Amino acid sequence: MTNKNKLSVEDVREHIPMLKSCIYVDNGSTTPIPIPVMEAMNEYCLKFCTNVSRGGYKLAVEATKNFDLARQNTAKLLLNCKMEELVFTRNLTNASNIVAYALEHPPLERNNGTFDYGNPLVKWQKNDKIVTTVMEHHANFMPWMRLAKNKGINLNILEPTNDGILQPETFYNAVDENVKFVAFQHVSNSMGTIHPVKEIIKAIKEKNPEAFVYIDGSQGPGHLPVDVYDLGCDFYGFSGHKGPLGPSGTGGLYIKKDLIMKMAVMELGGGIVSDVTINDWELISDIPSKRFDAGTPNIVGFIGLGRAAKYVSNEIGLNAIKKREHLLTNQLLEGIREIHNIHIYVPEDSAYIGGTVTFNLDGWKCSELSSALAKEWNILTRAGHHCTIPLMRFLDVLDKYGGHVRITFHFYNTEEEIETIIKAIKQLSKAKK
Ligand code: ALA
Repeated sequence: MTNKNKLSVEDVREHIPMLKSCIYVDNGSTTPIPIPVMEAMNEYCLKFCTNVSRGGYKLAVEATKNFDLARQNTAKLLLNCKMEELVFTRNLTNASNIVAYALEHPPLERNNGTFDYGNPLVKWQKNDKIVTTVMEHHANFMPWMRLAKNKGINLNILEPTNDGILQPETFYNAVDENVKFVAFQHVSNSMGTIHPVKEIIKAIKEKNPEAFVYIDGSQGPGHLPVDVYDLGCDFYGFSGHKGPLGPSGTGGLYIKKDLIMKMAVMELGGGIVSDVTINDWELISDIPSKRFDAGTPNIVGFIGLGRAAKYVSNEIGLNAIKKREHLLTNQLLEGIREIHNIHIYVPEDSAYIGGTVTFNLDGWKCSELSSALAKEWNILTRAGHHCTIPLMRFLDVLDKYGGHVRITFHFYNTEEEIETIIKAIKQLSKAKK
């Protein structure tokens, strides 16, 4: 598809009828599904709705072909990796838990006639540390807390700048030879920051090349181009129903090629084994990412995700999405910055700004404000802690406001919608003393 054939804002809005009936700016939570993505799922349901990687008849072969193609497209177009390295997950939460399981348990596999524990991914020792940050949402925080507790090791929690930017030097100073694992976000769901991920990973690996790095890409792929090789991470997880415009119940986890075969898999069952005896089992090895596919997968969902990957990457264009979200965010910020009783929680330097604006108005609890925006203006936002309670405490907004109000854009939001949002916030800012 050449540049001039890319989808316009109007084209995309035609594919999402829901956008005609509201101003939808809760995209950080989940996104509506465009018609072409639904059509791909319909096609599977109507024409070859059979199981994958099992049956030998024609329809099952067709289903498997489409399922594999979906993994290939998701891997290549959203993360620039290979399908062998892309585990299909339910969401980012599932991705984090898969990694946490493998960090806690050694693999159990047949090995030269024995069935025994293999080498663990990390041989945890008393002084070892896991590093994460106070900005993480719960799915990239709680699994590491439990891992640290279960292994009796330290969890070192780093802080951003006051305006929500994670800095390479903070990681450089925190990482030493005892740090075995570092987990942090690509884009903040609560402050909108696009962090300097590549530079941070470089700083971590410079101090300790052995430390594994996990990136929470919940708000990344689909909003901006991601190249996991260029970033240099070991793991990168994301949800399919946010940036990529795929269905809920889908997501992905990139695992570096030399790690994937060494990992204990969290779920066991059919579809992932080449042999099972009464004494042991052997997992498949031709496509390593399929070792994590125990049981019948969410076939219809992943076919939708593969189609969604093409939609955002090829048909709209990831750079166009990133640029547009940045523009809309700046337009909104310009319109509300001068409101006398507003508090805005985004990076000051525009270079770090993505498609999110979070704020409070003095005199309002954030949930009240969000309800007023919905009721009086049909503007749909999220209010509260956004599954980042530690960050809300860091920002000191939990007791006073109950968190903050969040506006999150996607490509299809319009300049006219932003003007309405500005008008609404201005009006509500005058409603209370
Ligand atoms: N899904 C959560 C959000 O709304 C984390 O950002």
